[in-house]
Amino acid sequence: MTISIDFSDKTVVVIGGTSGINRAIAEAFARHGASVAVASRRQEKVDDTVQSLKNLGAKHALGAAFDVRDASAVASALADFQAALGDFDNLISGAAGNFPAFGADMSINAYKSVIDIDLMGTIHVMKGAYPHLKRPGASIINISAPQAYLPYETQSHVCAAKAGVDQITRTLAMEWGAEGVRVNSVVPGMIEDTEGFRRLTAGPDIIERVIAATPLGRTGKTQDVADACLFLCSDLAGFISGQVMVVDGGVYLRGSGQLGQDLAGMLKSA
Ligand code: HXC
Ligand code: NAP
Repeated sequence: MTISIDFSDKTVVVIGGTSGINRAIAEAFARHGASVAVASRRQEKVDDTVQSLKNLGAKHALGAAFDVRDASAVASALADFQAALGDFDNLISGAAGNFPAFGADMSINAYKSVIDIDLMGTIHVMKGAYPHLKRPGASIINISAPQAYLPYETQSHVCAAKAGVDQITRTLAMEWGAEGVRVNSVVPGMIEDTEGFRRLTAGPDIIERVIAATPLGRTGKTQDVADACLFLCSDLAGFISGQVMVVDGGVYLRGSGQLGQDLAGMLKSA
């Protein structure tokens, strides 16, 4: 069987798509010829990413700078994307914030910043995109995290937020399925060379210990997550909705493991 993935007649929107995992996702769609729009807060990151998307072969590439905490800015930019590129075939929502901190030490605003970016941001993106989704046929992916189903010390804000993200995925998969819209989450594992990995690096030998704990014997790469998104947005996944796809080399099977304890130890000794 020959499988070819062609997004040359597809419009793909990647929110938070200007660095790390999400940028790799946007670039993967660009390589397959899609029209791609990206957004995040910093205009220079947006501009740099748009240039890269064009260089990689995107049919059209454009971007916007806004904060996902601002619902009206999100809705307005998504309307602009639709006006420029047409209805969305694929929407990836991945803007997120994280830092290790004990619940007792975090201010209310510290909790709120993560909940507002990760959870309310997802809601703003889903609501803002809804009028512009291709019906039938659109595929939405929310980028989640292992914190959604595994508790880690120092991660109570992200655990709460990402669990909410996955429940939005499941609920809206039911509500929007009748319109031919699929909604899934993708959970990256520990993905090397990313901001998320850097922020949760507890100790110099963390990479060796992650590899030792991972059944597939390596850390993840941004391309691993991008490939999962290409699959979920392709016709091959046409009957898959409401799922949380974990892309972590199997490490989740071992549970929370040492990471939370390591992070707690790091903060206590800081
Ligand atoms: C305690 C902290 C803190 C820290 C910030 N705060 N950092 N509290 N420990 N390390 C508090 C601040 O004091 C403030 O509270 C509140 O949080 C908001 O901080 P600001 O800096 O004003 O917020 P803002 O500029 O909006 O930035 C949001 C942010 C920031 C989340 C704090 O880190 C950010 O922009 N992150 C985006 C990039 C990112 O995090 N990428 C990694 C994603 S990885 P007060 O009370 O003082 O006002 C991920 C999962 C990875 O999501 C999973 C791997 C397995
Ligand atoms: P990253 O490079 O920091 O990516 C986050 C993106 O979101 C950036 O483009 C960032 O750009 C944007 N963003 C952040 N806050 C925003 C806001 N308030 N409004 C608009 N855009 C905002 O981090 P990453 O590690 O690649 O993580 C990407 C996604 O994967 C996240 O959803 C994260 O939870 C998930 N994840 C990562 C890992 C990992 O190992 N790295 C593991 C599990 C899950 P600006 O800062 O310019 O706004």
